[in-house]
Amino acid sequence: KRIVVLYGGRADEHSISCISTAGVLNALDTERFEPIPVGITKDGKWIVNGEDPRGWALDGGELPTVKITPESRPVLIDPSRGKDGFFAGAPEHLNGSDSNLVSLNDPEMRHTLTSLGHVDAVLPVLHGPYGEDGTVQGLLEMMGVPYVGCGVFASAACMDKHYTKIVLNAAGIPTAPGIMVDARNFTAADVLDKVEAAGLAYPLFVKPSRAGSSFGVTKVEKAEDRETQQDKLAAAVATAGEHDWKVLIEQGIDGREIECAVLCPKAGEEPEASWPGEIVLDHQDDDQFYDFDSKYMDASASHVEVPANLPVSVLEDVRDVARRAFKAVDGAGLSRVDTFVTPDGTVMVNEINTMPGFTPISMYPKAWEATGVGYTELITRLIEGVLR
Ligand code: DAL
Ligand code: MG
Repeated sequence: KRIVVLYGGRADEHSISCISTAGVLNALDTERFEPIPVGITKDGKWIVNGEDPRGWALDGGELPTVKITPESRPVLIDPSRGKDGFFAGAPEHLNGSDSNLVSLNDPEMRHTLTSLGHVDAVLPVLHGPYGEDGTVQGLLEMMGVPYVGCGVFASAACMDKHYTKIVLNAAGIPTAPGIMVDARNFTAADVLDKVEAAGLAYPLFVKPSRAGSSFGVTKVEKAEDRETQQDKLAAAVATAGEHDWKVLIEQGIDGREIECAVLCPKAGEEPEASWPGEIVLDHQDDDQFYDFDSKYMDASASHVEVPANLPVSVLEDVRDVARRAFKAVDGAGLSRVDTFVTPDGTVMVNEINTMPGFTPISMYPKAWEATGVGYTELITRLIEGVLR
């Protein structure tokens, strides 16, 4: 079966997608699947024959990006051709149109195109906006090509942390209290007023509503006076606003962050939940949170522990909440449900990642490994689930 593996992408999490893809391609069962890696550059060009993603690793050095090489060819898409709708164009078109959509009636284009062949399914290993948010999923729906993972609605609902709360709360699943601020149009005084009116307790976490991997997140502690508080909040909103104008201010939860991997290869079947895991920081620093650098730049600073060191009854509660959350957002394929477990054992959902980090040392595959599903088998099950 021929599987297009999409990687890179326009989001801030571009490099994380490259590393996830290296892991996936290296583990893919190539007796069953023939991968066709399609890279998406940061400016949104789709290419084949880029640098081989299998060589990428997280080594603390420069993060990989999809670069156009002399061998690269643009991938152009004719949605009306469905599973035969992927084409490679001539290299000169790379610098031409920004659009990856193609009209086969364009005579100039036509003679330079070669079909990538029949594609049986797409595996979008993309994190963040334009990949994990329903946009790519919508394109693939239009083409009628099966793809791994959540559909348009679940992807969009989980990408936007504000709407994730609305959906989960409606399903009776608790989340951290929070408010929205429009970073394009706010005053420091208004922000503090809103925080106080909502009764949010410090510390606060100020984050872009639609980003991942801790990009743009600031922890804001209680300040001595209102003026300092306003300044700190305004600075944090501006930082988050560099990633998304929609900014979420959330009350920090006193609890441990426990993550649960959900697997549901065939949409509509009962989702399975892994043993929940925890990221354990090796040098504890109370002021620090698990930010981008500790996640990716200093891999030795933490390790994944599955199952998390909690009573079995609490672990079972986390699994139950994870499955319910997955169903509440109409999930499919996979998701990692990140929760907070408070000292009294309450389980709240922090966020749902519909395409969680997927390197061999990431929580999602590690959690399944500890639950009895190996990395290669996991990928096989996800792809087999969508083939028809
Ligand atoms: N957003 C990153 C990739 C994660 O949640 O794993
Ligand atoms: Mg995330």
